[in-house]
Amino acid sequence: MSNNNIQSVRGMNDLLPDATDTWQGFEAIVRDWLRRYGYREMRTPILEHTGLFKRAIGEVTDIVEKEMYTFIDELNGESLTLRPEGTASSVRAVIQHNLLYDGGKRLWYSGPMFRHERPQKGRYRQFHQVGVEALGFAGPDTDAELIVMCADLWKELDIAPTLQLNTLGDQAARQRHRQKLVAYFESHREVLDEDAKRRLHSNPLRILDSKNPAMQALNEAAPRLMDELEDEALTHFDDVQSLLRAHGIAFEINPRLVRGLDYYNRTVFEWVTDQLGAQGTVCAGGRYDGLIEQLGGKPAPAAGFAMGMERLLALVEAGGRALATPGPDAYIVHAGDTARVFAWQVASALRSAGLSTILHCGGGGFKSQMKKADASCARYAVIVGDDEAAARQVTLKPLRDATEQRRTGMAQAIQFIQEATTQKV
Ligand code: HAM
Repeated sequence: MSNNNIQSVRGMNDLLPDATDTWQGFEAIVRDWLRRYGYREMRTPILEHTGLFKRAIGEVTDIVEKEMYTFIDELNGESLTLRPEGTASSVRAVIQHNLLYDGGKRLWYSGPMFRHERPQKGRYRQFHQVGVEALGFAGPDTDAELIVMCADLWKELDIAPTLQLNTLGDQAARQRHRQKLVAYFESHREVLDEDAKRRLHSNPLRILDSKNPAMQALNEAAPRLMDELEDEALTHFDDVQSLLRAHGIAFEINPRLVRGLDYYNRTVFEWVTDQLGAQGTVCAGGRYDGLIEQLGGKPAPAAGFAMGMERLLALVEAGGRALATPGPDAYIVHAGDTARVFAWQVASALRSAGLSTILHCGGGGFKSQMKKADASCARYAVIVGDDEAAARQVTLKPLRDATEQRRTGMAQAIQFIQEATTQKV
């Protein structure tokens, strides 16, 4: 730290009011979108036992190996971790509360996640996800609907990320593929970098994900999982694709898409954009049929995705769509003793009518109050002088358009602002 002032932790950002206006606009759209698809919200703790993430995400993943905020609770010696993602917690909660006892569940969550990554544009140490999990559903229709619902949201947000799709098949096929991969990489040991050597026996699939240019040719020619897939998994994948085509969703099959978390099987997908630089994945997910059983629940299939809110909002902003709710409906300016008392009553009436209202505080002349009214981005200044107060009227001055100011009774003023506000939306 360069001076004595305490700053926020690197990679963890404050969201100031200008930003939260936009976030709230986004959250309102997202909430309504999830409601329309029949998903219900779940809120789980931000802290979980470290073992949950190790078991769910996988010991030999970047997240578990080097990105988790893990510490020992000194009061009882337990190892705890700030959640790096939401799927593990969701599955833990579903098992713990036996939520699948009467059939599948459609759940969503949102909130901060924590990963100790190198911060850069679009990559933070505290970031926010909206996650969607469909638990207990095995069919390709669920995979397709998860993707279709994303496409629906993109339309509403005026953005157009592209869809990359792959299948990871099932356990047995992956096992065979893994053996072939290990044999292949072992026979080319001299080309492997340190990371790859380390992963050779623990997680050879992740070697395919390497960004090292020296490994690209080797990876291109590596045995393909696609060649090992069994009929059932292939049919599942074909069905997902047919459903997507039927819904007019364009996609690109990317056999290199393996995802950074170990729990996936069959369908995996990522929505990517080239408008955000290096961190272009705005949403990602897939099927994870083995995870519930692996974490101690009765075997049940599942699929889901999570979107990175910072990245999505950056993309929406690049597209020019404004999500922020505008300033308040009214800013009441008042001067004079009688006016002050009446101004408080006006504020109360406007608020009771559902209008967002700032009542000027701190005195000052009309001119300086009008400046503050304008700076607040309010739609109307509601002017209350002693004259108006005596007549129990207000003067309405539009601040965002060129219409004339008018003096009216309170009920009419309320009606007028309400009508103007609905027209605008
Ligand atoms: P993930 O791919 O690790 O998947 O993260 C999902 C999304 O979160 C990414 O596509 C990205 O938009 C955002 N994200 C991840 N890390 C960061 C970061 N450091 N800074 C900013 N944004 C980030 C999961 O987390 C899975 N739980 C998704 C899932 C749900 N799969 C099935 N259900």
